[in-house]
Amino acid sequence: MELLEAESDLTCNPDDRGLTPEELHAGVQGQDGLLCTLTDRVDEAFLQENSHLKGVANFAVGYNNIDVAAATARKIPVTNTPGVLTDTTADIAWALMFAIGRRIVEGDTLVRSGNWTGWAPLQLLGQDITGATLGLVGLGRIGKAMVTRARGFNMRVLYWNRTRLTEAEETELGITYASLPGVLAQADFVSIHVALNAETTHLIGAVELAMMKKTAYLINTARGPIIDEKALVATLKSGAIAGAGLDVFEREPALEPGLAELSNVVIPPHLGSATIGTRTKMGNMAARNVLAACRGETPPNVVNPEIYR
Ligand code: DGY
Repeated sequence: MELLEAESDLTCNPDDRGLTPEELHAGVQGQDGLLCTLTDRVDEAFLQENSHLKGVANFAVGYNNIDVAAATARKIPVTNTPGVLTDTTADIAWALMFAIGRRIVEGDTLVRSGNWTGWAPLQLLGQDITGATLGLVGLGRIGKAMVTRARGFNMRVLYWNRTRLTEAEETELGITYASLPGVLAQADFVSIHVALNAETTHLIGAVELAMMKKTAYLINTARGPIIDEKALVATLKSGAIAGAGLDVFEREPALEPGLAELSNVVIPPHLGSATIGTRTKMGNMAARNVLAACRGETPPNVVNPEIYR
């Protein structure tokens, strides 16, 4: 806020909530730049009506809420916040693995209910994380941060990525490439780390879920629509997989009917990057990006650099 106030005539959403499309539209009238969040839809129609914008800075690393092609066509730079939330997001994926695999939330609920009758040998048995097989769907920055964590837990790591690493890189990281069905069939924990786009929408549907082991868990800290949430609820209900840890949802903040009633899911409200340190870094990065765009400079984290060629 200090960076923005020092250099601009700022119009700011005063509340900790997303704006309606009408509020967003009204807010950018007479403004050169937009610093928006992942809940703001910056689509073709919005950009058509607001082609005066000199830059759109997303307060997120993912930018599926912005029609980048439409912005590029109007020579509007779009930016994101890469790098600063990598560890924080990998940490929450790890927290979800523990929360669901070791049944922490179920146990917490039991204790709070007053119905806990004491330690029992078969009570709330979960799955070991140490020594298990971790399957990574996507190996960008956050996927690689998962590999670092997996080392400390002696995990075998399989990965599937659009582009395969070189043999030397795989050896250095200590990970093994497999096809998507191969990762799904062998992993004890499948963790999603791909960006959301047309190719990855419903990448994990009924067919893919059926490939997973009955004892396996699905973790998603990327974007909700990568998983077909209806198919996931059916799969979880049938017990065809052991459970899921989901930080993101297909139609946030709405949930697929039935999801919240299941005991074999842990479902925080999109908290992946939600630490004071990380959100501060994201804010500073987004502020620097939008100010650079307004000055007519190339913003440091532009995702459509082709507009400058
Ligand atoms: C991002 O930056 O894309 C995250 O989802 C925000 O938490």
